[in-house]
Amino acid sequence: MSALFSPLQVKSLTLRNRIAVAPMCQYSASEGLANDWHLHHYAGLARGGAGLVVVEATAVAAEGRISPACLGLWNDQQAQALAGVARAIKAGGAVAGIQIAHAGRKASANRPWEGDDHIAEDDPRGWPTLSPSPLAFGGHLSRQPQAMQLEDIARVQADFVAAAQRALAAGFEWLELHFAHGYLAQSFFSRHANQRTDQYGGSLEKRSRFLLETLAAVREVWPQHLPLTARFGVIEYDGDDERTLNESIALAKALRQGGLDLLSVSIGFSTPQADIPWAPAFLAPLAERVRREADMPVASSWMLDNPHDAERVIASGQMDLVMIGRALLANPHWPLQAARALGIERPTWVLPAPYAHWLERYQSA
Ligand SMILES: Cc1cc2nc3c(=O)[nH]c(=O)nc-3n(C[C@H](O)[C@H](O)[C@H](O)COP(=O)(O)O)c2cc1C
Repeated sequence: MSALFSPLQVKSLTLRNRIAVAPMCQYSASEGLANDWHLHHYAGLARGGAGLVVVEATAVAAEGRISPACLGLWNDQQAQALAGVARAIKAGGAVAGIQIAHAGRKASANRPWEGDDHIAEDDPRGWPTLSPSPLAFGGHLSRQPQAMQLEDIARVQADFVAAAQRALAAGFEWLELHFAHGYLAQSFFSRHANQRTDQYGGSLEKRSRFLLETLAAVREVWPQHLPLTARFGVIEYDGDDERTLNESIALAKALRQGGLDLLSVSIGFSTPQADIPWAPAFLAPLAERVRREADMPVASSWMLDNPHDAERVIASGQMDLVMIGRALLANPHWPLQAARALGIERPTWVLPAPYAHWLERYQSA
């Protein structure tokens, strides 16, 4: 009996297995609108057999996009376009999830394959960025953000709420708040980005305020029976790791108390000076620590695409769900590949019946 291919219940939803498609920006939208690319991309991933498909970072406000080509949910037309994507994911047998996001000081950037750097300040394609303090990320992202006023904070939190409502109206059932990767929420938490002296900066409690308030506001409108989750970077790999981890676990406990149903454990990416120990499944011990100490279901990501690693991290209780990224871009049918590698009985049945039935008798596929 495989742990990876056992169902997972979160609130009223049952995922058919423990494989989730990690949110992955496609940088292929115009005016924040999903189009045929998104439809086909997400439909294919759902058909591939994952239990959950999380649609990429989708901006709650125009200035919160990473690039001009990112998805948005700041108007109803965008929600309508995404409704087709949610339907397509469900037709493939997966739970439809979406990550809502504000890119903060990392916004207004060129697409990764067009430089990945900030759009030049005199280029009309770019826009002024927002962050807790007027500190640039550095490295290839050198634009100095504007420090947010209290009105900006309240407005962005209201944008998260409105985007959550639109995600629900569009048919998504799993919501992920993007609190990770050096974007706006992670920037409030991180000393690398937050040097405020008001109620949103300084102590752990104050640096946590933006995240906890945003969760509370979204929890008010997101149905209790559906999973409300967040992705958060619990470590920066900047040499101050034990302190960051302890603070992150304290935050995770508070998020749990605030009604969060699952935390996706990731990396902070708040400084270009990080020294990340890339290796297969390297975040799994941290995920396990958060899961145990915060007493909350967790997902995690980064180099979990060896099927035996994926099976092991679930079977050993390090995490509840694996988020697979690049391996699924290479092969949307990675779940079938994993099922075969793990010796699952009737592996093709991780795919929907219109594929599984034929492949069962055709082992070379
Ligand atoms: C093309 C691409 C886009 C990504 N976009 C997002 C995103 O929108 N939100 C997010 O939280 N992580 C994003 N990530 C990180 C992935 O969710 C994932 O954590 C990462 O790819 C590591 O998993 P992997 O080793 O299985 O690829 C992105 C990664 C890739 C490769």
